[in-house]
Amino acid sequence: MNAINILLLGSGGREHAFARVLNQSPLCNQLFIAPGNPGTALEGINVEVDWQDTEALARFAAESEISLVVVGPEDPLVHGLRDVCAAHPGLNHLAFIGPGASGARLEGSKDFSKEFMGRHGIPTAAHQTFTPESVDAGCAFLATLSPPYVLKADGLAAGKGVLILSSLEEAQTELRAMLLEAKFGEASAKVVVEEFLDGIEFSVFALTDGEHYVLLPEAKDYKRIGEGDTGLNTGGMGAVSPVPFCTPEIMEEVRSRIVEPTVNGLRAEGIPYVGFLFFGLIRCADAVKVIEYNCRMGDPETEAVLPRLNEDLVALLMDAANHRLTNRKAEVSPGAQCVVVSVAGGYPEAYGKGDPISGLNDLDPNDPTVVFHAGTKKSGDGTGVVTNGGRVLAVSSKGKNASEALAATYEALSKIHYPGQYYRRDIGNDLVS
Ligand code: AMP
Ligand code: GLY
Repeated sequence: MNAINILLLGSGGREHAFARVLNQSPLCNQLFIAPGNPGTALEGINVEVDWQDTEALARFAAESEISLVVVGPEDPLVHGLRDVCAAHPGLNHLAFIGPGASGARLEGSKDFSKEFMGRHGIPTAAHQTFTPESVDAGCAFLATLSPPYVLKADGLAAGKGVLILSSLEEAQTELRAMLLEAKFGEASAKVVVEEFLDGIEFSVFALTDGEHYVLLPEAKDYKRIGEGDTGLNTGGMGAVSPVPFCTPEIMEEVRSRIVEPTVNGLRAEGIPYVGFLFFGLIRCADAVKVIEYNCRMGDPETEAVLPRLNEDLVALLMDAANHRLTNRKAEVSPGAQCVVVSVAGGYPEAYGKGDPISGLNDLDPNDPTVVFHAGTKKSGDGTGVVTNGGRVLAVSSKGKNASEALAATYEALSKIHYPGQYYRRDIGNDLVS
């Protein structure tokens, strides 16, 4: 295969990790990132191409001789970018990583994903879905459950659409607010009420061509803002890969009871799917169950998973796009990779932007650490980098084991500063003895 030009969509830590690994491949000629961030600019060329402007995308793809499009975040997928490209004469020749709108519903509609799991016998929490018309039935259903109560807005709600409540009255009030007062806008026009699952969460990723799949390394994500898994949910405060409790037996259970039935279920329902499948899982006392699907890679899990890959990512992606995958596990480097996310003060609630970041150049290139940019941008005078989002940096290190990787990450973080900086100091503590 000749080296190709690639367009990567997105601007977060996940995309910086993708950019780095794609750029390392001898099969990558030129890498473009739209819109990217100052970190992706170290790996390729950031371009201002709006994925919603189909004609601009087609012009750019022609001018830059793009062969492969890789979509980082869910939004373009849920909004049908793959289908738009497939229908456009200037874009339909491109290899495209990410499902069409029908497959992206696994993430875009919690109701669809729960029904899908039900149809294919995939273990998940018991649930019922309610609409404004059935709100009273929803309140009555809640009364039959024991606390805590789990309410999920059906649609995309920027990671905020899941409520876990300890009192029945509160759960009923919130259900009414979601359904009748559009608490999460259109996303909560339907609400899934589900059984609370008790267990330990982890994430498994597969790249599929719709028929076969390659399993990537698993990871554990730390979602809460506070140490000891307390406080508000965030996009993710850190991740560790591998996950020590993911024994070969557990991974075989995940493969045979969850991954395989999902890929086969999509095929049986005539839903073409070329892209990543992200399984948000929970290990309960009786079985591993699915908490959610995502139609993309995780953030910050990608920053822990991709650096471990001992495969040529461009070759894997082209094999997926050309329906040439085989069912197998990806080759991974031994040891561990741990990422800690450094956020803006106040996140995940209101936070400031534009604070200068210092210390980014103080890392030794021989360090086992990479600083992935998440919410950053160049300063006005172009000489430095300032904060530009809630999750600012994802600092990821490799080590012989998780303790060594974490120590390197925290050492690197101690050199990086900006006003209001916060990061959890307990990432991975539960996994290292
Ligand atoms: P989701 O957006 O579906 O991943 O939900 C966000 C978070 O809420 C998950 O990562 C879990 O920590 C929690 N959660 C969701 N559903 C359940 C459930 N049925 N039981 C326990 N926790 C849940
Ligand atoms: N870290 C969780 C996610 O990407 O959805």
